[in-house]
Amino acid sequence: MRPTPMTDARRTVYIETYGCQMNVSDSELMLGTLTAAGYEQAEGPEGADVILVNTCAIREHAETRVIGRLGELKRHMKAGTIMGVTGCMAQRLGPRLLDQARHVSLVIGPDGYRALPDLIDGARNGQRSAVTDFDLEEHYQDVLPIRGDRVKAWIPVQRGCDYRCTYCIVPTTRGPERSRDLGDVVREVRATAEQGITEVILLGQTVNSYRTGGHDFADLLRAVGAVDGIKRLRFTSPHPNDFSDRVIAAMAGVPAVCEHVHLPMQSGSSRTLKRMLRRYTREEYFDCVARLRAAIPGLALTTDVIVGFPGETDDEFAETISAVEAIGFEDAFTFKFSAREGTPATRMPTELTVPDEVASARLDQLITTVRGGSRVRNLGRLGERHEVLVERTAKRGGHLMARTRDFKTVLIPADGYAPGDYLTVELTGTTGSTFTGAPVSSRAALPMAG
Ligand code: 5AD
Ligand code: SF4
Repeated sequence: MRPTPMTDARRTVYIETYGCQMNVSDSELMLGTLTAAGYEQAEGPEGADVILVNTCAIREHAETRVIGRLGELKRHMKAGTIMGVTGCMAQRLGPRLLDQARHVSLVIGPDGYRALPDLIDGARNGQRSAVTDFDLEEHYQDVLPIRGDRVKAWIPVQRGCDYRCTYCIVPTTRGPERSRDLGDVVREVRATAEQGITEVILLGQTVNSYRTGGHDFADLLRAVGAVDGIKRLRFTSPHPNDFSDRVIAAMAGVPAVCEHVHLPMQSGSSRTLKRMLRRYTREEYFDCVARLRAAIPGLALTTDVIVGFPGETDDEFAETISAVEAIGFEDAFTFKFSAREGTPATRMPTELTVPDEVASARLDQLITTVRGGSRVRNLGRLGERHEVLVERTAKRGGHLMARTRDFKTVLIPADGYAPGDYLTVELTGTTGSTFTGAPVSSRAALPMAG
């Protein structure tokens, strides 16, 4: 660790994060690295000594947004401010980004954050660098993350991806899959629990394929679930093919594991799934859902779906709609296919391209289907009682945002509760997607007289 400069005021760093939870977690690690080197976090870009934009490359739209934002952030630069781009877009474009944006002096991919303090010093001396090497040993295990959330903690347990879904840029931007040592994960979870955090979310691109030193994801769930003080355990995102019986048994057997799985489906058509190289059929996906539901009563499922993948016919799309209806997802992230340079999907015959108007219409229909289904189910749940964890103050004044174990958002009156509190609520209203709830006075049964 380098000494904190004593003579001048601490340098400040502002980090803006785009994309997935893995990026949120990476930003916490970057902040940890820079704090250890004497930097202080700035809440906004104005006047910061260092501005870092942690980026996503998953869809073209994500990248155009960042390009626009980089232009805006330029206005906040003062003499000597260092502007850096990190994350998946940095990895994908590398030195090309330095050419495109002259005010950017650092481009650093997901495995290069350890060198941030040195690279920033170099940039201060006029160097412009692009660091995009993969480091298969890199888990940032000795870096103390500076967490932005005081209620729940994201814990990276795996980096990279070994699947090769034909639409996906992630294997290119995050490199091959590697799992982090189990003991190391447990140590981080323990330290997190000691700070009063009761919920952890294990992160990995295909998190349930976790495997290291003879341990699999089932072992990891059991080990993390056994840490004192951890009341809720979630993970994202699993791949259907990695739900072994052992993993499902661990989910069912570890009380902290919450009754919610985000299970990316991508398509409900076996033919589309084959072109996507998802490595399962519609029937196999349904089977995975059935095994999970049989083992975990009350399990809520959410998913990711892509529409307009090359060659997707009306019939194939209809199979996606029927799968969404049959499974009854609580919610779905829905996307129009976006061609990513270098991915196998871009090499498919151009006559397979789905026209944008068709993809847009399919997206609308899919969203209507998802919302319609969850609305009906949510209306049917009014009156139920659930344990919720208060996450933060809600946008609606005087209210707090809380979550059930099965991942429903519930707005409750603030009434003296605070983020981090657990309480039981009755679901009193729903917008169709989120709920309002009323705290239920805890009339615990008195112990029976012996
Ligand atoms: N186009 C559209 N959606 C994509 N996703 C990944 N790659 C693409 C792409 N090229 C979606 C998938 C994935 C989620 C994180 O983003 O649904 O599960
Ligand atoms: Fe991308 Fe497929 Fe890997 Fe997920 S499993 S990160 S969609 S390649």
